[in-house]
Amino acid sequence: MNTFYVTTPIYYANSLPHLGHLYTMIVGDTIARAKRQRAIETYFLTGTDEHGINIERAAEKAGRTPKEQSDYVVSYYKKMTSEFSLDTEHGGYDIFMRTTEPFHYEGVSELWRRISKSKTPKGNDAIYKGHYEGWFCAACAEYKTEDEYQKPKNEGDPPTCLIHDTPLDRVSEESYFFRLSDYDEALLSVLESRPDFVRPESRRNEVVSFVRGGLQDLSVSRLKTSVSWGVPVPGDPAHTMYVWFDALTNYITAIGFGNEERQKAVGFEKFWPAMHLVGKDILRFHAVYWPSFLLAAGIELPRAIVAHGMWLDPNGRKMSKTLGNTIELDVLQKHFSIDSIRYFCLREMVFGQDGRFGYEALIDRANSDLASGWGNLSSRTLTMIARYCDSRIPSGLIPEDKLLLAKRTGVDTDETTVAGFIEHARDQFVQHFEKLAFSKALETAWSVVARVDKMITDAKPWDLAKDENQKQTLGVVLYRASETLRWLSVMLYPVMPEASRAIWKQLGLDGSPAQVDPTQLKWGELKEGATIGEVQPVFPRLDKTKIMAEINSGTAETTVPSAVAPGPSEPSAPVVHATQADAVGVTSFIEIDDFAKVDLRVGQVLSAERVPKADKLLLLKIDVGEEQPRQILAGIAQYYEPEKLIGRKVVIVANLNPRKLRGFESQGMVVAASYGEEGRPVIATFTEDVPNGARLK
Ligand code: MSP
Repeated sequence: MNTFYVTTPIYYANSLPHLGHLYTMIVGDTIARAKRQRAIETYFLTGTDEHGINIERAAEKAGRTPKEQSDYVVSYYKKMTSEFSLDTEHGGYDIFMRTTEPFHYEGVSELWRRISKSKTPKGNDAIYKGHYEGWFCAACAEYKTEDEYQKPKNEGDPPTCLIHDTPLDRVSEESYFFRLSDYDEALLSVLESRPDFVRPESRRNEVVSFVRGGLQDLSVSRLKTSVSWGVPVPGDPAHTMYVWFDALTNYITAIGFGNEERQKAVGFEKFWPAMHLVGKDILRFHAVYWPSFLLAAGIELPRAIVAHGMWLDPNGRKMSKTLGNTIELDVLQKHFSIDSIRYFCLREMVFGQDGRFGYEALIDRANSDLASGWGNLSSRTLTMIARYCDSRIPSGLIPEDKLLLAKRTGVDTDETTVAGFIEHARDQFVQHFEKLAFSKALETAWSVVARVDKMITDAKPWDLAKDENQKQTLGVVLYRASETLRWLSVMLYPVMPEASRAIWKQLGLDGSPAQVDPTQLKWGELKEGATIGEVQPVFPRLDKTKIMAEINSGTAETTVPSAVAPGPSEPSAPVVHATQADAVGVTSFIEIDDFAKVDLRVGQVLSAERVPKADKLLLLKIDVGEEQPRQILAGIAQYYEPEKLIGRKVVIVANLNPRKLRGFESQGMVVAASYGEEGRPVIATFTEDVPNGARLK
């Protein structure tokens, strides 16, 4: 039996899902659907990594137990996967794996026992007890070597993590070690003999040079007194397993390793080895540690480890809450169809490299490629079949006696020309897909859209319809277009399941494109005479101005709760910030009309007071030359004494939708620059006299 197993990383249960998590799930889901379409029995895993000090700390902060903390985060993941149609119910993942499952405890303990009984390729014990002293980053859940931390400015202070910028903990304790240093040759031989083991090639080269640089033994346990939330070491419960040992093992325990019941329900032998999809930041764990553990346990290595890049903002900056450039999942869900998000993710990021994600780019792609591209091809073809062919699929053949007539219109009378083009494109598409080159695959599919669109435009069916003698020529053009739509629905199903199904149904076809193997498509199998379904637009055009205005005015309102805060978090400060980072590297430009939409006015502060229980907010009354002064909340209380602001000229954004913060309506925003790491605000003002209400242009 042909089977396939694909996994995403399991996500830390200390924070809520974001675009990075959604992305890998979309990729995994797309791969799983493509395999299932080709009748390959597929198992798709995603889930959460629930042990370790980070989760313990997050739980403590939120006043929950670690398990309650995990349950809380998992409930968000489940909601998110359901809303984005990635769960089992929607044909997505087969398991949402949790490392707190009892069967996982059994499996990971079994793996530990096996490794601790085994010898390394160099004849030493694979696990030994030793003493570890080092700098440990709780957020990374790993010890840091000298080149992985920032030395302290003041002697005596701890160094800080280069990734998290937080102080490291000095940890000195008894620990079990995995003798990783004995696995360098074995790993290099795998990397050499299996060039596809780590993909893409650039990442493989990174791993090779890391291994060549020499491997250090890995501490794989912590004393229970330091980290209690985890799986106890078999035979030595005073130790808790290292969280990465525990987490990586989920890939095999999920399918039955070390547990009879799961083995019967899923089947380790049936599905292993897996293809692991990971972000490039966690490649080393998957491509060095995990294969070494498996080698030690005598378990077959993964099929492949595929590393993708990171999503950056439209200016190429890392996404972070501090910069305010994150993509919120609830905003995506509110304004965009699932298929358009899936399409954007797969089309825009060249798999393996970093990509840029912005709402505007998403709208542009959805409009140009989907609404005006595939969607338009579908609705124009089907509408013409409804209008000119009485809603029935016309014949794809031109009778002998009409060939000459057809030729005169410029329509190619040899149907193998268009069929050949599409067959070739399908083959290329499938090949790119196999290599996970989704962007290229989609580009190929869009060459088909363009080609058939041009065929319609050149043939002018609306003119042919006026001539009774050209009925068959008209029919042939529309047959070719509708047969192309059938092929595209099958090819694009893994990427856009909903739209593909909708077009399939509108073509009047039975079953689903999910059940058709794209490699088995045969030109001409669309049946002449079949009645098409009701024609409906699949990708409505998106109103960019309206959506962007809604997103911008709602940014602060989209209440993505904090994973740790037990109650609602304090709303972000309603100040328009021009950050230092913005001052450099501006690569995204707007038109003057875009700027004109922002109504900036001169105002004067009439009163200012602190808002009870909100240490960042000031409540301002500002005269902007209107009948009544405006009430505006500004997140500047930590930097400005309220009294000192009275009489001050300021700039406000006057046409923002009012919104409520801490029970007060804010009728605009105060404009300020912001600098330094903590984003210190400096209110914009004037050195010359200017009347209240004057507009900034
Ligand atoms: N728990 C570990 C994985 C254990 S797997 C046995 C972990 N979790 S994580 O939640 O921090 O990250 C999970 C994944 O999200 C990583 O693959 C990471 O690359 C990915 N992403 C986080 N931010 C991202 C972007 N901005 N863009 C794309 N992916 C990103 O690591």
